[in-house]
Amino acid sequence: MFKTPEIEKRIDELMAKMTLEEKIGQLYQTGLSPVGGFEISVKEAEQMFEAGRIGRKEYEELVTRASADEKENMIREGTVGSYIGIHNPEHANRLQKIAVEESRLGIPLIFGLDVVHGHRTVFPSPLGEACTFDDELFRKSAEVAAREAAEDGVHWTFAPMVDVSRDPRWGRVAEGPGEDTYLASRFAAAKVKGFQGDDISAPDRICACVKHFAAYGACEGGRDYNTVDMSEAKLREVYLPPFAAAVKAGAATLMPAFNDINGTPCTTNKWLLDDYLRGELGFDGFLISDAHGIKECVFHGTAETPADAAEQAIKAGCDMDMGCEFYTDCLPELLKEGRVTMDDIDRAVRNILRIKFAAGLFEHPYAYAPEKSTKLCAEHRALAREIGAKSMVLLKNNGVLPLKENKKVLVVGYFADDGNEMLGMWVISGRAEDAVCLNGALKEAGVSFDYAPCTDNQLTLDREALQKALKETDADTVIALVGEHFRTTGEANSKSYIGLGGDQPEMLRIIKESGKKLVTVLLSGRPLAIPDEVELSNAVVECWQPGVEGGHAMYDVLFGKVNPSGRLSMTFPLNSGSCPIYYNHMNTGRPAADIKWATRYIDIKPVPLFPFGYGLSYTDYEYSNLQIVPDGNKLYVSADITNTGDMAGEETVQVYIHRSKATHTRPVRELKGYTKVYLEPKETKCVTVELSRDQMGYYNNQSEYCTEESRFDIYVAHDSASGLHGEIVF
Ligand code: NOJ
Repeated sequence: MFKTPEIEKRIDELMAKMTLEEKIGQLYQTGLSPVGGFEISVKEAEQMFEAGRIGRKEYEELVTRASADEKENMIREGTVGSYIGIHNPEHANRLQKIAVEESRLGIPLIFGLDVVHGHRTVFPSPLGEACTFDDELFRKSAEVAAREAAEDGVHWTFAPMVDVSRDPRWGRVAEGPGEDTYLASRFAAAKVKGFQGDDISAPDRICACVKHFAAYGACEGGRDYNTVDMSEAKLREVYLPPFAAAVKAGAATLMPAFNDINGTPCTTNKWLLDDYLRGELGFDGFLISDAHGIKECVFHGTAETPADAAEQAIKAGCDMDMGCEFYTDCLPELLKEGRVTMDDIDRAVRNILRIKFAAGLFEHPYAYAPEKSTKLCAEHRALAREIGAKSMVLLKNNGVLPLKENKKVLVVGYFADDGNEMLGMWVISGRAEDAVCLNGALKEAGVSFDYAPCTDNQLTLDREALQKALKETDADTVIALVGEHFRTTGEANSKSYIGLGGDQPEMLRIIKESGKKLVTVLLSGRPLAIPDEVELSNAVVECWQPGVEGGHAMYDVLFGKVNPSGRLSMTFPLNSGSCPIYYNHMNTGRPAADIKWATRYIDIKPVPLFPFGYGLSYTDYEYSNLQIVPDGNKLYVSADITNTGDMAGEETVQVYIHRSKATHTRPVRELKGYTKVYLEPKETKCVTVELSRDQMGYYNNQSEYCTEESRFDIYVAHDSASGLHGEIVF
């Protein structure tokens, strides 16, 4: 990892020269605070707001009227260690120059930014990208994001987000790899490798910050920031493995989550941040709180005062304070009172300096400046187009797709021409004008089409416009782009209803009634509960938030330039009331079935709309000849996969297990391996996936990992609800 004798020596030498203020400065991350609005500081405005003396509207007005305080004096004094939100090389370099040349010890600042799914070249949102099941693509898009961000002076991204979540009501599912622990773990490792490379000190690489540690995706009711209560066994089995995989891959930093687990906020959870992360996993990078996370411990009610919160957080092992200044304000006094020791502070400073040294910031503190900028270059765009198309999931097709270029189509829905909707949530450096929308791609390809938006971003239907468009067009196929406005996805965008919003269901019904063929194209940040809309469509393609090349990617899939190969990274429910929903649920004593006395709801079928791992293509794959061969602690699972159709394609072969006997209940299925295979028409290939005994265990209620012998069901499958089945005692 990062602790090497040379680095530790450099830290020792530097720390020997540091004053207490300079040490505490390293623990402080700040942003450009707006000041000057109404002659009061932002801090005062915040305090007034929190005390209820002004409302949110007034507070926001004050802050908007203010101008940016860059805190240059603090940099000069060495009392700030990091900035969030700067992504401009001149700006970053100017502040960095002050740190390096004008502060007493010249310790470089580390600039952090949320580079969540690409930088200037925006890739599909992570939930969509996860549908590629392609580790090499996960890695490559992170590598591109790192290179572009480094050019803008960024050293560190608050990504990857690897929160497993089983509840599509939670808005933040868009930011992560979905519901499955195994897929999320492979995603996590590949992302860390992509951002950081083999050598984190290379100037075109940036540090990863794996978040949100931990179990944030298990927030009760799918409501953002909500509490989490679960057994340690479940935490270890479902929510922690992606973090462990990221640490193993060399993640430099992690971010404790906003939520509490079993009553302890993650920010002050010593067991999580220290015993487990550093003790068990051997992590030696640093931790940064989530924004105002330390302050929020006061709202959680586990700290009474700012000083309590700061004391608990630093002792638990949260090294850097994002945004709330509790460390800066309280640590000197806490030290005097003996509530915090110099060792507590030194430990945090060491962890941060270790990463600053390892990342080469002392050698190259300034923005990466290649001879020619790579931002949004043709190669990066091509990768975004490839990942965009491979992330799209064909959910239904009764033969209408792929469309023919020489046949006119009618396109409806405002999503067809809105760059921001292509980019999606959590985009900072991407620009809407860079984005290719479906209309642009159709024009470029010379496809003849009529366009009538008929909906706006409030999802209100212009009925007259729709009737007119349907009447006037001579196209017999309608491509309807529907879904959810990107601003209703991501952070603080949990929903209690995840059906198709606004008047869109009506729009689809009217199109269906017109007798034209309906191709429904979904843009969303989460699985949607849309059984009726699927039923009335001739074809349905889930495109997620497809990125800067979204329109090209849609064109590729709709017109068969690319044979769709995306597989769902998250289950689609039949309705909102059946969330949380996930494929790897426990069996129960009354397994789910379509009978009264089974675990089910009486008003819907006990099945999802589309299961995890599901996705169609323009060809068919046949699975045969399952072989399960044990060899010591390994299990080799293989099958022949045949492309029985007429189009070449890439199949994602998924291997699931079910342990039939254990001292604790086990999921009906668990994904334990996957691999991709490219097949020409009529071609057959034998695919083998290696499993190990270590992967096939479980945690008991004492949190011990158990791998005793059991009979296992093994599935080699196209998705989590089908497949070849075999058994073995292993
Ligand atoms: C809050 C979010 O929870 C986190 O994901 C993000 O990195 C920080 N804000 C910083 O923007």
